[in-house]
Amino acid sequence: MSKVIENKERGQWGSKLGFILAAAGSAVGLGNLWKFPYKAGTNGGGAFVLVYVIIVLLLGFSLMIAEIALGRNTQLNAIGAYSKINKKWGWVGALGVLAAFLILSFYSVVGGWVINYLVKSATGALKISDANVLKEVFGGFVSSTTMPIIYHGIFMLITLAIVFVGIDKGIEKASKIMMPSLFVIIIILAIRSVTLPGAMEGVKYFIIPDFSKINMSVVLDALGQVFFSLSLGMGCMITYGSYLGKDTNIPKSGIIIPLIDTAIALLAGFAILPAVFAFGFKPDQGPGLMFVTLPAVFSKMPLGTVFAVLFFILVLFAALTSSISLLEVVVAYIVDKWNFSRQRTSIAIAIIIFLVGIPASLSQGVWSNIHLLGNRGFFDTYDFIASNILLPLGGFLLCIFVGWIWKKQQCEDEITNGGEIKFRLKKVWFFLIKYICPVAILIVFLRSIK
Ligand code: PHE
Repeated sequence: MSKVIENKERGQWGSKLGFILAAAGSAVGLGNLWKFPYKAGTNGGGAFVLVYVIIVLLLGFSLMIAEIALGRNTQLNAIGAYSKINKKWGWVGALGVLAAFLILSFYSVVGGWVINYLVKSATGALKISDANVLKEVFGGFVSSTTMPIIYHGIFMLITLAIVFVGIDKGIEKASKIMMPSLFVIIIILAIRSVTLPGAMEGVKYFIIPDFSKINMSVVLDALGQVFFSLSLGMGCMITYGSYLGKDTNIPKSGIIIPLIDTAIALLAGFAILPAVFAFGFKPDQGPGLMFVTLPAVFSKMPLGTVFAVLFFILVLFAALTSSISLLEVVVAYIVDKWNFSRQRTSIAIAIIIFLVGIPASLSQGVWSNIHLLGNRGFFDTYDFIASNILLPLGGFLLCIFVGWIWKKQQCEDEITNGGEIKFRLKKVWFFLIKYICPVAILIVFLRSIK
């Protein structure tokens, strides 16, 4: 009880379920629905999925528990949490804040696409069964100059409005309805997709690994995708954990959240990739995959328009529960550090992120010939730096910190609520965090850079 009062100014989750919903809300988002299927599509299908699942089992659960524990113990944002335990480590949290900043700038662009597709499906503009026309519709929209930027702005504005109000109002309540609905609608879509004529090729592509497709850059992509999808490696779960009361069962949360997240990613894969093959698309077409394929699936369903509208509303909701967590990482840091007002900080940061996102949007069209890293445009460069470099690096440093710097007793007490909770896998978990996870990340990282 005392904790609740102590943290009044920072806000706190209304209930235990509230935290699970919010953390799962942060994890489940465009990463699962939009990014995972297209990453699987460009990285050889089943092979990528297999590597992804192995990484979740090995690293996902362990790091989730570590981040939540660190946040709850210190009751601070990402940077504050590190430096409270050891002054020299604050910069690790700063890397996370930078990652959040970069991710949100292109995430919001894609969020804008979702809003546009919601509008399009509501007005019947997507009632097109010719897959090639759907492809042109998508390409035409994202490569245009002003409209995608306006939608990107709308998405940022909604994100801002939610963060503005604070952490526990609204979000929790809405999640209780929206998250289960999302689950149901994806299952329906997956069933429709898998039963389309010609879909079996896609099912095989998605679940049967072709080991010749696995190389270190596929593994790094999968690693980055795990971090991205689980919101790990950047202090997001530290920040969310910091709003958590002392009675929550951390190991349980650390297991449930990755399970939900992975289930939704796999279902999204089943909803999209089989349909890709059924409609004769190529699986490796990149970020447009969901936007081109699913409208084609809707056109093959009774009440397709209703499903389409419903689906894009739920995707938008999922995207927003993630984008608010990204913005929250940045805002929480500034509010904790300089005591600025939450409102003003949120507005300023949202404007800057909006501006930084504009090149990502333009790189789909007029700026598509500008290359930064390798032959990546702005969009892919932001994504690569954040997901494939900053997040794995943040995850690696988190392991070193929790495994080697944080006092073991303090860490154990936090995770077991001072011995009240039986966490049978405590030793295994600690071994993973201390040795296996950091070594695994380091190997993938170094090998793929070569
Ligand atoms: N996990 C979110 C998604 O899958 C994105 C995200 C990444 C959110 C990192 C917060 C932190 O869409």
